[in-house]
Amino acid sequence: MCGIIGIVSDKPVSINIINSLKKLEYRGYDSAGLATLSNNLIDEKKCSGRVEELEKILIKNPSNGNIGIGHVRWATHGIPNIINAHPHSSEKVSVVHNGIIENSDELKKDLEEKGFKFKSQTDTEVITVLVTQFLENSKPLESVFKTLKKLKGSFALGIIFKNFPDIIIGARRGSPLAVGYSNDENYLGSDSYALKSMTNKISYLDDGELCMLSKNKVDFYDLNQKKINKKIYTVSDDENTTDKGDYKNFMSKEIFEQSNTIKKCLSEYTDSLKKDINIYNFPIEPKKINKIILIGCGTAYHSCLVAKYWFEELTSIDTEIDIASEFRYRNLKFKTNNLYIFVSQSGETADTAAALDICKKNNVKTCSIVNVVESTIARNSDWVLPIHAGPEIGVASTKAFLGQLIVLYILSLKLSIEREDIDKKNYDTYVENLTKLPEAIKKTFKLESEVQLIAKEFLDAKGSMFLGRGNSFPIALEGALKLKELSYLHAEGYPAGEMKHGPLALIEEGLPVIVIAPKDKYYEKTLSNMQEVIARGGKIFFITDNYNRLLSTNIRFRLRVPRVDSNLSPILLTIPLQLLAYHVASLKNCDIDKPRNLAKSVTVE
Ligand code: AGP
Repeated sequence: MCGIIGIVSDKPVSINIINSLKKLEYRGYDSAGLATLSNNLIDEKKCSGRVEELEKILIKNPSNGNIGIGHVRWATHGIPNIINAHPHSSEKVSVVHNGIIENSDELKKDLEEKGFKFKSQTDTEVITVLVTQFLENSKPLESVFKTLKKLKGSFALGIIFKNFPDIIIGARRGSPLAVGYSNDENYLGSDSYALKSMTNKISYLDDGELCMLSKNKVDFYDLNQKKINKKIYTVSDDENTTDKGDYKNFMSKEIFEQSNTIKKCLSEYTDSLKKDINIYNFPIEPKKINKIILIGCGTAYHSCLVAKYWFEELTSIDTEIDIASEFRYRNLKFKTNNLYIFVSQSGETADTAAALDICKKNNVKTCSIVNVVESTIARNSDWVLPIHAGPEIGVASTKAFLGQLIVLYILSLKLSIEREDIDKKNYDTYVENLTKLPEAIKKTFKLESEVQLIAKEFLDAKGSMFLGRGNSFPIALEGALKLKELSYLHAEGYPAGEMKHGPLALIEEGLPVIVIAPKDKYYEKTLSNMQEVIARGGKIFFITDNYNRLLSTNIRFRLRVPRVDSNLSPILLTIPLQLLAYHVASLKNCDIDKPRNLAKSVTVE
């Protein structure tokens, strides 16, 4: 939700802070700020809007100082303006925060009664005031420990101190925080991506831990103020992740990368010689798995919905799915041989991480399917299946969604053969069909010019419907989500068979309706639902893999994706919908990589 950076060095830090904030903007971009220590003063500079506004301020009025913190904000408490931008500073400390302090109102009231004054509407400022208060009689580390004891809710913090100009203190509860190491320079950051341009040596704080950085030393502490050691990871260097190359924006790059990212993912999990899937060391012996529960949010949840069809079709395992923010509050009955699978591109989504924590506390086996192997969710799972999609910068998830689908599909295949739910002949056919997928994805990109024509028809529409049955229904949901989050136009995904139970009332002359209908066992039924829409004036955009002429002429546009193994059709059918959302948003001049009100990693509830 927000991005944090802290740097302590033997040289001025403001330029590196700004560069790191630019890498963190995908986490939040309502406002930005930094604070450095120079001439024994806290030099705070902030702006509403993007980091480039902050950069302009610094060009006019440079910040010196070899120690500083920076922040990009996704507003939770208080409108996105300069006063509410972070850092929040008193005369003695400056604080940046990612998370939500749930008891901030009562703490603020108590502090105001003691005569403390507040400048902002944020929850974060109570941290600033509390640390300032405790500094009267305690050293920085003690003051922070005392402050944390008073806080309810989640935080990742970076704090600098006017009278202690050589340390930064960081703390973590529920929101990710990483430490980076270099020569005569150390770093604090929301994630390794922000630190990668400065170092590849990274440690990750776990909940309840603190760190104290100076330019040539880093100490870690647990909640009992006991010093602890933390593992230092060497993180992979993702080739050309920071530039868009010839693409206009990250999202177009990430859409057109999908043929390669799926190829890379398949190469990680399939043995082209043995024609087998290389997934082993299951946390539960496959034949003993009693039930699989798939959990995620947003697009990741949609991949769980598709996977449910695959697990049901290919295995004898009872499969459930749930939205993480619902799962975490249910009165759950945990069983030893249930396998809980968490799907998360970032591996930092607060609801998904919290759902995982509940499973860990109940001693059941967990698996995470992530794009960031050093993430919190990955580090807290018994078993990790990376999707190998490379960093996904566009807030709207594209290549990560296809990566999630492919890993879930090959997992269902592997479990199926391990449990002898399918015979070897069918298994080999399914595995063989996977090899055709990257080429089929590439062919699907050729639909872009037709999609651009369709996009125009959505601009002035009151809204739109996306319909599908079977494993095309979750793709209808995903297509609607993409259109909503990129173009800000209302769109609804619905099971085609459900339209007659109410939503048909929405259909009126010219309303765009995307019908997703591969030639599978639902095809004829979906055509009937389509006729019900046509009869009421709906304007049909038909996406299929069927090359036979269609019965109905009342179809405004027909898009055909290549025909593949019907299990794989959700993967191809997604691509025209990604392109549609992209082109409608482009026609509306929306910010493609950073849609309004959103953030790439939702690390608050
Ligand atoms: C995807 O287009 C959305 N931006 C959003 O729904 C996202 O999928 C969701 O927040 C889950 O994120 P995660 O995969 O990082 O957990």
